[in-house]
Amino acid sequence: MGYISVAIDGPSGAGKSTVARAAAMRLGYVYVDTGAMYRAIGLAVCRRGIDGEDAAGIAAVLPELTIQLAYENGTQHVLLCGEDVSDAIRTPEIAYYASKVSAVPAVRQFLLETQRSMAKSGNILMDGRDIGTVILPDAPVKIFLTASAETRAERRYLELREKGQQVTRERVLHDVVERDRQDMTRAVAPLRQAADAVLLDTSDMTLEQSIQAVLQIIEKKIEDLNHES
Ligand code: DC
Repeated sequence: MGYISVAIDGPSGAGKSTVARAAAMRLGYVYVDTGAMYRAIGLAVCRRGIDGEDAAGIAAVLPELTIQLAYENGTQHVLLCGEDVSDAIRTPEIAYYASKVSAVPAVRQFLLETQRSMAKSGNILMDGRDIGTVILPDAPVKIFLTASAETRAERRYLELREKGQQVTRERVLHDVVERDRQDMTRAVAPLRQAADAVLLDTSDMTLEQSIQAVLQIIEKKIEDLNHES
């Protein structure tokens, strides 16, 4: 059997990256956080003072950019033109820009090949919005991981507060709902569940239960594949 790709898609704040990172670690797979790549482009756009609505301006920046994921002791670092921007991309402002740039077709095209080639280099667990539908439509394991907007907002709120950021619950819920709307209604690669993805709603699960549920889905799928071959 060749390399295994696990595609995990879902809305923001479903705990996707935390769950996906932990599951990848336990399986010994490389974790690929595609949202971080959109965030890095969002950061580059923000720093250049380009308007989030200026699709042509955003597309024009792409030739100047290199986005790489590097791994150090199993931790992913995001490099924008060689600079480690792993922390700088984790702010609400950059989340806003990431959402804007991710609606630009040229940006999606720019990242598509990079993401596909990562899946050719080993066993990976890739998380995003369009991994099971567009990037890796043939991935043998696909999971659509979600939770209610309220649950996701509460989790995000606690996460941001822990990082010392001054936010209100109302603001975070508003941002979550708004990003869902943007991600689900955009013309290119909107967020949707692939027909062959397993739906996992983590609203009533703890982090550990969510990780276990993801591992169970993956292990069961791999077992089925081994029986088929
Ligand atoms: O998962 P995240 O919050 O880091 O994602 C940041 C933004 O990038 C979010 O608005 C959705 C978008 N995104 C996307 O369009 N496609 C992906 N594969 C991953 C993220």
